[in-house]
Amino acid sequence: MKIHAPRVAKAAQPGQFIIVRMDAKGERIPLTICDYDVQAGTVTIVFQSIGCSTTRMAQYEEGDSFADFVGPLGQPSEFVHEDLEELKGKKMVFIAGGVGTAPVYPQAKWLHEHGVEVDVIIGAKSKDYMILEDQMKTVANVYPATDDGSYGYKGLVTNLLKDLVENQGKKYDLVIAIGPMIMMKFVCKLTEELGIKTVVSLNTIMVDGTGMCGACRVTVDGKTRFACVEGPEFDGHKVDFEEAMKRQGMYKAQECEKTEEFNK
Ligand code: NAD
Ligand code: FES
Repeated sequence: MKIHAPRVAKAAQPGQFIIVRMDAKGERIPLTICDYDVQAGTVTIVFQSIGCSTTRMAQYEEGDSFADFVGPLGQPSEFVHEDLEELKGKKMVFIAGGVGTAPVYPQAKWLHEHGVEVDVIIGAKSKDYMILEDQMKTVANVYPATDDGSYGYKGLVTNLLKDLVENQGKKYDLVIAIGPMIMMKFVCKLTEELGIKTVVSLNTIMVDGTGMCGACRVTVDGKTRFACVEGPEFDGHKVDFEEAMKRQGMYKAQECEKTEEFNK
């Protein structure tokens, strides 16, 4: 979906996100920014219709509007502030899992525009679920993988990364993993063994998105951090994924109940 939000588009940087709300009683949905166009004043978001709110969102027609479209929120990716010459010497690989491919695109695009070439592994359940591959290929070297083998490498992104490093002579200084929490957990487990620094983007439950409610609380390196203002990116090897996954599933029962009610 392309949203006309000129001020958000003007201020957006890779790694940041927005929060949308459809109406006064609407759920606040944090979504990472997939692309932004300062000239056109638009911000692109990608979402999958899963529950009540996202299904309603998918029914929007051109010209409809949100009650709120707040952003850009969170900290931009760390590399935005790094020395470009140092960055060009770094070997980086992004691991994009499913819908998590959307936020990887503006990061790879920014790096490409600044002369930094990166690899991107895109993982999806099957070929039908693979998104943004063509766009990604214009800014990075892409390695597609599907769980069922219907396209590209057959297997999980972790197996492909292991294969690239152990059998295909790839050497990486940094892994940036964005996707389902479980994927990020297992990517971090692998990269710890391989000794590669890893950054993850945490998609926690969020309410205000400005550091006041504590809904997005995560534990990183034994300390409480707020993903909305201090993240969403953190050192993956220091994240308490068990706690993060438990907190992420906190409203599963209510979510299911609301979706069932909506689908009646
Ligand atoms: P998915 O379940 O299809 O998984 C995508 C890929 O992740 C799989 O193809 C597989 O290669 C890998 N994966 C999954 N489980 C794994 C495991 N146990 N070990 C190793 N690799 C594993 O993804 P989906 O259904 O598209 O879900 C996307 C998720 O990403 C949603 O939960 C969404 O909230 C989240 N998301 C996260 C961000 C973020 O910023 N972190 C942004 C957008 C979406
Ligand atoms: Fe409220 Fe982060 S979402 S503190």
